[in-house]
Amino acid sequence: MNKNTGNTPASGLNIVVTAKPAAPVKADLLVLPLGTRELKKDGGAALKGLDLDEGALNDFKGTAGELAILYRSAVGKGAARIALVGFGEGRSSDDFRKAAEALARKAVDLHCSVVAIDCSGIGAWAKHAKRTPEYLAGVIVEGVVYGAYRFDRLKSGKLDKEKKRDAGKPKAIGELVLAGCGDHAGSVEKGSNAGLVIGTCQNTARDLVNLPGNHLSAEGLAVAAREAGKRGCFEVTVFDRKRITELGMGGLLAVNKGSEEPPTFTVMDYQPKGKPKKTVALVGKGVTFDSGGISIKPAAGMDEMKSDMAGAACVIGVVEAIAKLALPIRVIGLVPATDNMPGGSAQKPGDVITTMSSITVEIGNTDAEGRLILADALTYAKREYDPDVVIDLATLTGACIVALGMKVAGMFSNDEELAEDIYSAGQASGEKVWRLPLWDEYAEQIKSDVADVSNTGSKGAGTITAAKFLENFVEGHKHWAHIDIAGPAYAAKGAGSGSGGTGFGVRLLVDLLKSWS
Ligand code: BES
Ligand code: MN
Ligand code: ZN
Repeated sequence: MNKNTGNTPASGLNIVVTAKPAAPVKADLLVLPLGTRELKKDGGAALKGLDLDEGALNDFKGTAGELAILYRSAVGKGAARIALVGFGEGRSSDDFRKAAEALARKAVDLHCSVVAIDCSGIGAWAKHAKRTPEYLAGVIVEGVVYGAYRFDRLKSGKLDKEKKRDAGKPKAIGELVLAGCGDHAGSVEKGSNAGLVIGTCQNTARDLVNLPGNHLSAEGLAVAAREAGKRGCFEVTVFDRKRITELGMGGLLAVNKGSEEPPTFTVMDYQPKGKPKKTVALVGKGVTFDSGGISIKPAAGMDEMKSDMAGAACVIGVVEAIAKLALPIRVIGLVPATDNMPGGSAQKPGDVITTMSSITVEIGNTDAEGRLILADALTYAKREYDPDVVIDLATLTGACIVALGMKVAGMFSNDEELAEDIYSAGQASGEKVWRLPLWDEYAEQIKSDVADVSNTGSKGAGTITAAKFLENFVEGHKHWAHIDIAGPAYAAKGAGSGSGGTGFGVRLLVDLLKSWS
């Protein structure tokens, strides 16, 4: 399984929290966070205190994520390099996340190993953002970990002209010092531990999304889940083709027919110590590459379909995060995985398949494959675990991008309260979702003349007809939600170090599950 590379080990970032002031810390970069309010009030004094020229404030406005790097002679002082980083009005935690991401991105660019952030304002920031210092510290650390992420494991460096110049310089932030925490040091410490876990698990998900089809197969995804299980100490079971066949997972097998690689079905099971408050099943679409199959996709942008397992990556990241945070909820992660290829034995448009639920499906389009593998996983979740809540995540429809764009996910639920909770978690985490309807009018569109249902709808509302399709396989479960992450899971090329897999959904679901803890 040489090409089934798993994921990277947990972040090597060391976090130091101190009550003592930041100024004397010997760092490669000393970060001074300044919001628009703070800037007006005491920006000048803050700069003076560091022997810096106030002139910088003519240019620096303090908008969220804005950066200015200033230098001073460090003789007898702490750091020679100072970063002013803006957090805007500081009214939402997103402002701080943006600031943290920006500063970390810069710190990695500048090869800074030790980064110190002046957190002396954290009490005031928290009050203004209506959050606790603990929560805000979590957001900041998570933002730093997220911003410091690079996907460079497939670069040999052989053609890198700057290699000599940068040889021996640090490639990652080794130590993050949260200084000046004063009385808040205890809560900052707690928050930063959680932030490190969540940021690292988001990056695990991003790694998996960024790995191309020839480096991550269905078996590779299963290996990644196993590795997560080792790190998070939860149980992982992988079904191979034989077991998948015994279980009658006809949807997963149908999609896999055109492939040279076997399918996998992975079950992750995190059980908290003591009686769980809830059992939640999370299902993630794991299509490691979606060519469309016989209904083949156009060439332009097809490479991005290596990201069609982002739902699976998210589920793996969430289960690890929940386990490491030791939340009192049992979480079952289910990942049906295969690629969708047009090989000679591939399924054909017009075929009728039988899913695990016994529901028969007419294949209107082999490119509507995600719903077929999710169907079996939903059936398995309900039958095997009868969970309190079932949530599936999938890069399911291009139509969702048409409806909601690249930043926001589509959300469906048959449960008002669950929909509310997911919406709120989206607002809190910055991973926003917008609810779309599951009205029966849309079921008309996926009727089939020859089978129980068709996997494609007639014209219009492609995101909703996909959700209506899935609803058939929930088998009357009263607390189900489907999240279509086709837009926000992947940022197209050109977004610099922010391009590629985003890890969307990890923060959202961790926030959701925390709200139930
Ligand atoms: N994986 C795609 C959806 C997708 C498209 C995700 C663009 C991310 C970016 C999915 O399998 C697909 O191909 N859906 C089809 C469904 C159609 C054939 C009914 C689509 O959206 O066009
Ligand atoms: Mn497809
Ligand atoms: Zn797909």
